[in-house]
Amino acid sequence: MRSLFETERLFKRREILAGAGGLALAGTAGAKALFAEPDRHFRLRSRMTSYAFGEVVTRGLVRSEDNALPRVLRLRQGKPAIIDYTNGLEDYSTMHWHGIRLPNAMDGFPYLTQFPIGQNETFRYEFTPPDAGTYWYHPHCMTMSQMALGLTGILIVEEADDLSFDADIPLNLKDFRLTEDRSVLPYFTARGAWRYLRQCTNSKLATVACLRCARWRTDPIALRGTDTTRVHKLVFPDVPGQIIAWDGHPIEEAILWPTIEAPLLLGPGQRVDVAFVAPAREGQEVVFTGLLGRTPFVVAKMRAIGQDLQRAKDDLQPLPRNSFEKPDIEAAIIQEIVVGRTPKGDGTNNGLCGTFDYIFWSINRNPWPGDAVEGTGPVLTMHQGQSYILRMRNESPNLHPIHLHGLVFKPIRSNLRHIPAYFTDTLLLLKDEIVDIAVLADNPGDWAFHCHVIEHQKTGLSGYIRVV
Ligand code: C2O
Ligand code: CU
Ligand code: CU
Repeated sequence: MRSLFETERLFKRREILAGAGGLALAGTAGAKALFAEPDRHFRLRSRMTSYAFGEVVTRGLVRSEDNALPRVLRLRQGKPAIIDYTNGLEDYSTMHWHGIRLPNAMDGFPYLTQFPIGQNETFRYEFTPPDAGTYWYHPHCMTMSQMALGLTGILIVEEADDLSFDADIPLNLKDFRLTEDRSVLPYFTARGAWRYLRQCTNSKLATVACLRCARWRTDPIALRGTDTTRVHKLVFPDVPGQIIAWDGHPIEEAILWPTIEAPLLLGPGQRVDVAFVAPAREGQEVVFTGLLGRTPFVVAKMRAIGQDLQRAKDDLQPLPRNSFEKPDIEAAIIQEIVVGRTPKGDGTNNGLCGTFDYIFWSINRNPWPGDAVEGTGPVLTMHQGQSYILRMRNESPNLHPIHLHGLVFKPIRSNLRHIPAYFTDTLLLLKDEIVDIAVLADNPGDWAFHCHVIEHQKTGLSGYIRVV
């Protein structure tokens, strides 16, 4: 069976299975090998290439490998990593490590932290990831073309100590705008609808052994669908399991298992880690489903192989917490952030790196050019060591996944819903919602602060927060 599922992962698994003398041995011994010390020096090269979604080859995509998904980078918590990124494209590029708390100069934001990388130039990114979890990487210059055409990869920071999952299955959810014959459509039509949206994920069918608990990580990028934002709605299979982490960090309060009545909303830039027990009987399938409107489609299908390893949900240990200092909510300074349309109407945009030439959105009623070389100050200056509450208010009817680079924050209250306790880098701000997020300014630098719907980001909903 040919599977589109994480080829790198499957290769490793096959080697382990073969090396251990058969399918039945995909147990603890295999699990250790799955968490072998990661290679910590990577080379990535962006390029135009093609990729076969199923049987049909789509040309004109941007990837880091030929006819393959962008590779899954596995770093290790607390261990230095080097990633040499070579821009193999005609346009400028940079690479950003979404969700990682790293030194400002390594953040990959054009002009703010580095100059864009020209064709065939290499930039060395060097950092030590302090937190374990599921993150992702993507260009932060010419993102409308480079991200939309496929350069979005999963970045996993493995826990400092090995965890005893029997399998670790990363899955990158991404929409491509394709025609009926699977060729790629122009990635943007100004404010137009995406008429030929096709849902494609990495996975058609994957095999998992009858394992203790598989850990399933998603790393979604969503582009605009026929409505303004394409937020994934996920329904999980009826197997024993638990959401263990959200946006990289272990949850602090249980999140309900998503059902068809109450699907999980996963906005652009957000990630979820799920632990589940594979079915005991060989051949049984586990299906993760998505909803397009109300129509279900298969996101990932996995099939149990080998002997039942008799794992139980109760064996699940909570993930180790990432250690960082927490914001002091009592002592926090409150700052208001208003997200909406630009009050002055459409203006011109002086941003670079693929910014559209018009303005539509604003932060605090100011359209922020985002990637501008000069002429913009920070949305807010925060002082190192001080805690803040950012009171974010959405005065538009759209959903905005608001993302902050370089820092983590904790949503503490919403006027519309209960938000389970967790730390994150991206919050999906709903229509008419006001959310207070608490953040400790503990990482100096200029940190991008933007909506992760790229069209919003590139038309005014992108500024930065300065920590001094
Ligand atoms: Cu996913 Cu500004 O980043
Ligand atoms: Cu980011
Ligand atoms: Cu937005």
